[in-house]
Amino acid sequence: MKSALISSHPFDDQRPGTSGLRKRVSDFQVPHYLENFLQAIFDSQPDLRGGTLVVGGDGRYYNREAIQIIIRMAAANGVGTLIIGLGGLLSTPAASCLIRKYRANGGIILSASHNPGGPDGDFGIKFNTANGGPAPEAITELIYACTRTVDCYRSVDCDAIDLDIAGEQLMGEMRITLIDPVTDYAELMSELFDFGLIRKLFRSGDFRMLFDAMHAVTGPYAHHILEEQLQAGAGTVINGTPKEDFGGGHPDPNLVHAHEIVERSAGVDGVDFAAASDGDGDRNMILGRDFFVTPSDSLAVMAANAHLIKGYRESIHGVARSMPTSQAVDRVAEHLGISCYETPTGWKFFGNLLDDSRITLCGEESFGSGSDHVQEKDGLWAVLFWLNLLAVRRQSVAEIVTEHWQTFGRNFYTRYDYEGIESAAAKALVEHLRDQLPKLPGSKLGAYKVEYADDFSYTDPVDGSVSEHQGIRIGFTEGSRIVYRLSGTGTQGATLRIYLEAYEADPEKHRKETAEVMRPLVKIATKLAEIEARTGRSEPTVIT
Ligand code: G1P
Ligand code: ZN
Repeated sequence: MKSALISSHPFDDQRPGTSGLRKRVSDFQVPHYLENFLQAIFDSQPDLRGGTLVVGGDGRYYNREAIQIIIRMAAANGVGTLIIGLGGLLSTPAASCLIRKYRANGGIILSASHNPGGPDGDFGIKFNTANGGPAPEAITELIYACTRTVDCYRSVDCDAIDLDIAGEQLMGEMRITLIDPVTDYAELMSELFDFGLIRKLFRSGDFRMLFDAMHAVTGPYAHHILEEQLQAGAGTVINGTPKEDFGGGHPDPNLVHAHEIVERSAGVDGVDFAAASDGDGDRNMILGRDFFVTPSDSLAVMAANAHLIKGYRESIHGVARSMPTSQAVDRVAEHLGISCYETPTGWKFFGNLLDDSRITLCGEESFGSGSDHVQEKDGLWAVLFWLNLLAVRRQSVAEIVTEHWQTFGRNFYTRYDYEGIESAAAKALVEHLRDQLPKLPGSKLGAYKVEYADDFSYTDPVDGSVSEHQGIRIGFTEGSRIVYRLSGTGTQGATLRIYLEAYEADPEKHRKETAEVMRPLVKIATKLAEIEARTGRSEPTVIT
């Protein structure tokens, strides 16, 4: 099979963001755009020559075309073995699981996560390293540097591979293995969780659940694990068939976009437990009857109860959370006498901590949690963790969380997103906040006294690498916090996120509405950043 060198030209906008390179589908369809980025991956990762590469995606529009391009370029770039999910599907955590299990040299995951799909939607490409995790900054920067000079790429000329037939075939010297995307992942889940006990819970007849796969990649995983293996009953999984446009929806598991399960878990007839995951299956939302568990609380509850779960019974080494995530898990770590790390936003920052066995559990406020079982956040894993916990404790979700608050206090939490604001205005707003930082400590904002104000910088304790400008933090003396940062995953204009947290120790006050508790902090946060004057927005686009 002949490999050809096809000339192209460098693109200057291929720097990976918080989670890979994410753009409009139409950007990826520009001739040579995807190919140049792929060539940059092959050029910067010499281990892939003769090595093994895992490939799959969330099934969104352009997934199949992109996989054919990857196959041809992998063959031309001397990859030894390609492991591809049948139908071109692999959830992000399942891809991580396969990289680790088959000792691959890396993986390419095609996804724009929770962003809308379809011809007018978004597309994305992420490179994961041999540990199964997202490439760390040093590697994404190397790939980016290559994209700036790539002016030709290698590809072979051959027919498209049928992605729907399992088994092995050869393309020249490269072996292509198409495998069921669910099997290995399901096996790993059965090692971590007590499937027998969860089956008993479903058989008891007084427990009902719903899982919303949002027409995204977790449908096949959830049908197999929840309905078949755990016998949760037909109809437990809704929107379980992956679609190229996610059924026209926005595959983001939050109270706005996963509203069907919010409605069906409300009131006396509501199910006991409901959950959803996102486009590529790494996010999760957890609901009880009439009860929303914030992702920050979910992480804290998991850490506090890990000893009750089969795969975590022995001990957990430590925990980590992204900086904007609430400090609820810090309190659990203190109680357990284990380390708690505060990292910049993005899963890649957990990688070294997981590899070095410094942490077992980690999570982000953006509906992500995970453990050292793979190197990615994992939506279904979190759902199974909760199911296992409910099966052990035989209490409702609301009882488990309120008891948790009684022990540790409650960290009220909310996030305001201002989407699609003009990039220059967003940058100026952040600059303006940065300028105010030196004079804030010790000053009063409303009824709050500022304890510290900084632009978060992180030094990785394992490799010493430093990541600066990771968000503006303003901490108050009584434990509340305001955090500002610009999104690194958007594809249009800029998205400003404001994260607000208020700590309440008194159980009498735990039943208050979050919006009510947050009102004074919202006022301070919007005023300090001059939101309305600088962005023209009086209200955020989304509140979670
Ligand atoms: C967002 C989330 C972040 C998450 C990332 C990928 O990034 O905030 O926690 O890791 O998506 O799922 P952002 O758009 O804020 O840069
Ligand atoms: Zn995702």
